[in-house]
Amino acid sequence: MKNPEDVKILFNKLAKNYDLYNRIISLGMQTRVKKDCLKLLNVSSGYKILDICTGTGDLAFYLNKINPDTDIIGIDFSEKMLETANKKKKDRKNIQFLIADGREIPFEDNTFDIVTIGFGLRNIENYERVIDEIKRVLKPQGQVLNLDFSCDDGFFNSVFDMLTQISTAFTGKKSSYDYLIESKKNFLNTTELISLFRKKEYIFLRRKYYAFKVVAAEIFRNNKKI
Ligand SMILES: C[S@@+](CC[C@H](N)C(=O)[O-])C[C@H]1O[C@@H](n2cnc3c(N)ncnc32)[C@H](O)[C@@H]1O
Repeated sequence: MKNPEDVKILFNKLAKNYDLYNRIISLGMQTRVKKDCLKLLNVSSGYKILDICTGTGDLAFYLNKINPDTDIIGIDFSEKMLETANKKKKDRKNIQFLIADGREIPFEDNTFDIVTIGFGLRNIENYERVIDEIKRVLKPQGQVLNLDFSCDDGFFNSVFDMLTQISTAFTGKKSSYDYLIESKKNFLNTTELISLFRKKEYIFLRRKYYAFKVVAAEIFRNNKKI
């Protein structure tokens, strides 16, 4: 279903209860994982940070907690997901949410010190285009965090898919969770993903697995020269 219009419709429909469903299918682990993976980055005061596929803004809010003296922009093409993000934002001044497509990031070259993307690339048909766009808007030596399901073969990934199917009984969102399982099957595993980033001239710095290797975070450095 990776047609971008269908993906947008799916997330617009999910938006209202996205955070709740996420907590259910991750058995409450997603908050801890999202907070922990951000510690793999070096975040300094004054940094400009872009969160692509920001959804309801979790990574942006947790980054703001790590260092409130940063400017964070979250982009997403689902207006309903951003509506929820804006409600959660309250009066935080240095976080902004914008409607934008990750395949055409509306910022100039070399703008950001850090780009993060959480559970996003897998949903984008032309994900290589996003990786190129990240490189363009990221400063030389800037850092990238990719957090997502690992899509590696393994016992616990199969268990996760089974639990996801069971949890649809509680949420009534069968098609959304069928989509989640299908998107995991069709995406790159972590080794392939790291190779792809390397091919695009990023330096792979580190990887951390969570939840019995069902989720993985990778950090890269932009190796482009000015
Ligand atoms: C699974 S959610 C992840 C949200 C958030 N990053 C998190 O960790 O909870 C994926 C998000 O990617 C967005 N998305 C998918 N394709 C996109 C694209 N081409 N450009 C911008 N956003 C996109 C969807 O609208 C959705 O909000």
